[in-house]
Amino acid sequence: MKSVAVFDMRDFDEAEWFEKYSQELGLTLSTCPDAPDMENIARVTEGCECVDIITSQITREMMEEFAKSGIRYITTRTIGYDHIDLEAAKEFGIHVGNAPYGPNGVADYTVMLILMSIRKMKRILERTNIQDYTLQGIQGRELKDLTVGVIGTGRIGRTVIRNLSGFGCRILAYDLYENEEVKEHASYVPLKELWKEADVITLHTPLTEENHYLINKESLAEMKDGVVIINTARGALIESEALIAGIESGKVGAAALDVVEKEFGLYYYDRKSDVLDNRELAILRGFPNVTVSHHMAFYTDNYTRTVVRDSLQSCKLFMEGKKNPWEVC
Ligand code: NAI
Repeated sequence: MKSVAVFDMRDFDEAEWFEKYSQELGLTLSTCPDAPDMENIARVTEGCECVDIITSQITREMMEEFAKSGIRYITTRTIGYDHIDLEAAKEFGIHVGNAPYGPNGVADYTVMLILMSIRKMKRILERTNIQDYTLQGIQGRELKDLTVGVIGTGRIGRTVIRNLSGFGCRILAYDLYENEEVKEHASYVPLKELWKEADVITLHTPLTEENHYLINKESLAEMKDGVVIINTARGALIESEALIAGIESGKVGAAALDVVEKEFGLYYYDRKSDVLDNRELAILRGFPNVTVSHHMAFYTDNYTRTVVRDSLQSCKLFMEGKKNPWEVC
């Protein structure tokens, strides 16, 4: 009797943790390397009560198919669960849970991107790769001389601020809600003041209707010349066209983007032989002062272990009818 059907199971990093934690928790797994679809759901979930997924879309039709197969709980190995049709889940009596992981992976990565940007690391690496050991054009700046503006002081933003506090820089913060812990190291200011004062701006808010294209032509115009922009939050917080114009004009001194607009269908796939239809990404990648990575600031050993362990733990609690801190609906 299988108990949990695991979809999108990755051999290279997740398998060892699934084996370890399923043994420890006494769970039997049915695993599949692919995302669930109408063809494989019945087969993979046979005899299972729970399903463990990542960010693949779970539509109403799929939810119905899960229900028909006897599934009563879906856990996602991610923080967000907007890829799951929760209304359909309720309709078919399926409960849903997530598996949040700690903020340190993204926060560390953010500090790395800030340092890479102010020290011109992309240019340095490109030069050493071709044995160009000259100094002209790669002079950096020291963080202690700069003002960093942190937008969004939730779990990740707060950790970034704590990390940055050791560098001696001035830290400004903006959020819809103020947090007491943040005030130990940073000063909350209105957004307009942050635009005006910050040498480095780093984004740590979710994407909402309110802050879509938060960084656009108008907000860029209010920023300091040579401002450094870091985005490890969501691509559409920045209007790519405006950022490109800002870099071309020199208004933006550097940018580091772990997320971009229209990254869906690109990131986590090998697309090197394909002609892609994301011109903005191609342009941004080409600039010597823009560092791009593929939405993987979260990706650490700690992350993998945590999401596998907690997703299985939540399935076990659900099956035992116990209080389940990961259940979201
Ligand atoms: P959180 O929910 O703990 O904090 C978000 C903060 O943003 C809250 O304090 C909230 O009040 C604030 N906020 C919301 N709307 C705002 C607005 N319009 N203006 C100012 N502040 C606003 O979230 P967490 O865990 O810190 O994540 C932050 C971002 O990082 C999210 O967008 C998340 O999707 C992204 N993320 C990126 C990852 C990556 O690998 N690059 C991995 C995990 C999360």
